[in-house]
Amino acid sequence: MPIIPGQNSISRRRAILSLGGVVLSAGGLGYASGHVLAESGKGAQQTYPAAPDMPANAKVHAESLTAIQRSRQLVTPPTRATDILSYTDGPTVIRLKQGEWLEATLNNRLHEHTTIHWHGIRLPNAMDGVPYLTQKPIMPGESFVYRFQPPDTGTFFFHPHCNTVEQLGRGLAGVLVIEGDETRPHDHDLVCVYRDWRIDAVGRFQPMMTDAGASKAGTFGNHRTINDQVQPVFKVPAGGDIRVRFLNVDMSRVVDLGVTGADAWVIATDGNQLPPQKLKAWRLGPAMRADLTLRMPKEAGTRIQLVNYYAAQPIVIAELEAADTPLDRPDFAPAPLKAVAIPEPDIDSAETFQLRLSASSSPAQLPADLVMPDGSIQRYADALCLASKTFWAFNGQPWPNASHEVLPPPLVTFKRGRTYIIEIINQTPHIHPIHLHGHTFKVFASSKNDVIPHWADTTIVAPKERLKIAFVADNPGDWMIHCHIIEHQETGMMGIYRVV
Ligand code: C2O
Ligand code: CU
Repeated sequence: MPIIPGQNSISRRRAILSLGGVVLSAGGLGYASGHVLAESGKGAQQTYPAAPDMPANAKVHAESLTAIQRSRQLVTPPTRATDILSYTDGPTVIRLKQGEWLEATLNNRLHEHTTIHWHGIRLPNAMDGVPYLTQKPIMPGESFVYRFQPPDTGTFFFHPHCNTVEQLGRGLAGVLVIEGDETRPHDHDLVCVYRDWRIDAVGRFQPMMTDAGASKAGTFGNHRTINDQVQPVFKVPAGGDIRVRFLNVDMSRVVDLGVTGADAWVIATDGNQLPPQKLKAWRLGPAMRADLTLRMPKEAGTRIQLVNYYAAQPIVIAELEAADTPLDRPDFAPAPLKAVAIPEPDIDSAETFQLRLSASSSPAQLPADLVMPDGSIQRYADALCLASKTFWAFNGQPWPNASHEVLPPPLVTFKRGRTYIIEIINQTPHIHPIHLHGHTFKVFASSKNDVIPHWADTTIVAPKERLKIAFVADNPGDWMIHCHIIEHQETGMMGIYRVV
């Protein structure tokens, strides 16, 4: 039986905007009529899902993250350092062993609210970091503790989930590695974070969002980096087995990742085990990851290249240089990672939900900005976590929905424990990397290409393509589904799916 979209509506009103102890209610502070940010009267306080209980004997990995402006030298001197946003002084990489709990305290020292979304982690809804949906936004000066046990090994990342164009665009992101998936150890484990920066000749940020970009393929940066460096050279053991964890954390750039100078195999997609596939070029849209395994040449000083083939001319984005006394390893064969612990979808019994990606011309009719009691400006759009225009829609519904609710009703409701297929139908002339929160899905069929079945949390859908993904809806809650070209997300290509 097909699932009819849009039949379930949110009954409760949400998103009381609370700042400095003042709870705003509709009509009280000059909202244009017809736009309801919060229901007036008592008892309308949003309830959020409950945090998971951590057992007393849990092994805990504690991290302190402070979102604040820091200075980082992105371009070589004499260009001045750039005022970026980050969680820690250097690049933020958190490594846990499988089974450990993460207890991450986020201190917000920004001038606006923020949260952390743990991208790709199948965690309890309360820890998913979506303001107004799964938690109260963390206001300037406030802290919030994220506490959960990541169920899966792999390469993940985390980032804010509101005003993401600005916050992620200025650098706010970190890597989360969950170790314990190797069947044969590597000699070196290299994290490579790909992203552009949109800065001018003196190192200052340029506007991150443009109408031309948001309505097409996204606004691109001009300063391409791996781990904040341009074309870095990483010294790794000569003759050694290297694992490259490659993350595309850019907001719009697509990478066709290849390696020259050595054979490489893809062993994980979005952190999840894939039977080793010989690498030619592997397409990674924004938010997508691939883990590679390779053997370095033995001769010290020899370099191999990580290459992006997506551009008209291939671009070397980083090099690995064989260093030190060569290791003497037996002949190389790529070792598979351990199998994933994700429930296998039962495709034969699955119901299909169709998700059409299209353009939308509806203007987001937003009331004027709010002047808060402390004098700061709260943009209405910020409270909705979107820009002041919409260009995109899911099933004809741009976010926010035409209703006067702050949160639109779910696009669809799935029954807990059942397998669902989502057929993503791209009716636009642009690619869209579609991301589901809360579940890792299997990409298994396409109307355009042969698909190597693989696990993912984000998948590219090409123009005119119909792509099928499947998963067991085993994680209850209201979850986001959106395009990870962040300008598309913030101009309408975003929705909620519900699992009950
Ligand atoms: Cu990395 Cu909702 O996204
Ligand atoms: Cu998109």
